[in-house]
Amino acid sequence: MGLDSPDDAGVYKLNSQTALIQTLDFLTPVTDSPYEFGQIAAANSLSDVYAMGGEPITVMNIVCFPSNDLPEEILAQTLRGGLDKINESGAVLVGGHSVDDQEFKYGLSVTGIVHPDKVKTNSTAATGDAIILTKPVGTGIMSTAIKAKLATPQNIKESVAVMSMLNKTAAEVMAQFFVNACTDVTGFGLAGHLLEMAKGSKKEIMLFSQKVPLLNNVLDFARMGMVPAGAHKNRSFFKEWTQIDEAVDRAIVDLMFDPQTSGGLLISLNKKDAKACVEKMKSKGINAWIVAEITNDSDKGFLNIF
Ligand code: CO
Ligand code: CO
Ligand code: CO
Repeated sequence: MGLDSPDDAGVYKLNSQTALIQTLDFLTPVTDSPYEFGQIAAANSLSDVYAMGGEPITVMNIVCFPSNDLPEEILAQTLRGGLDKINESGAVLVGGHSVDDQEFKYGLSVTGIVHPDKVKTNSTAATGDAIILTKPVGTGIMSTAIKAKLATPQNIKESVAVMSMLNKTAAEVMAQFFVNACTDVTGFGLAGHLLEMAKGSKKEIMLFSQKVPLLNNVLDFARMGMVPAGAHKNRSFFKEWTQIDEAVDRAIVDLMFDPQTSGGLLISLNKKDAKACVEKMKSKGINAWIVAEITNDSDKGFLNIF
């Protein structure tokens, strides 16, 4: 599985029992705390392995650091945050590479494994499926509100907790069900990643915007116009394949296209199992909700936002 259809990671079958999953990701700082940034960047990088149904095995650090401008301690704390998340994932840090750069960036190259029959692609959703989302959305808009000094300490705390949470437990619960498709929510926003699933699977998806869990107060910030450029870019990029019901609040639409850092999993499975899966996730402390469904076939893929 590779470049012909965009998915979360590359997958290479080694033998009948094992396939290799490879992915890498890195970010510029998303919080003032380097330790938290390290946690978030690592959770974000590891997520693509979980989105493929796999288990991360080894990781390597990727570091671009302005050593003339920033104290070494910032890098040390970032790497400590990353390592804590790597340890939590059960993967092993085996190396890395750092270069001097004007802008600080950190992330991981992650290698995972999966049974070849259990790979979860984003292109195999089935008509009639319900789609579960496992984290609230709004981290892009919240970051904008944080920069504008509008967010409360509680808002910041919640957003950091959501972004640094591993998708590990969600993936473990997902593995107990027969799942047709999975991906994770990152830069294209919830609507964009649903559309990627719709296009890959040649399906039409209905997104129930009222059912999407949001960070506290983020709707107010969206109404105040604290919307990052990426949200508007996403909306216009996917315009051709999207229909938005007139009744949907503008600020809600912005949230549907808000680029997420280290967002939740999007899991497509039959409706009956979806309810049981959500219950199981909730019992494990995951803020999981059914937010969409696959309504019918569509050659080019389509998304209705209600
Ligand atoms: Co992904
Ligand atoms: Co990625
Ligand atoms: Co996937």
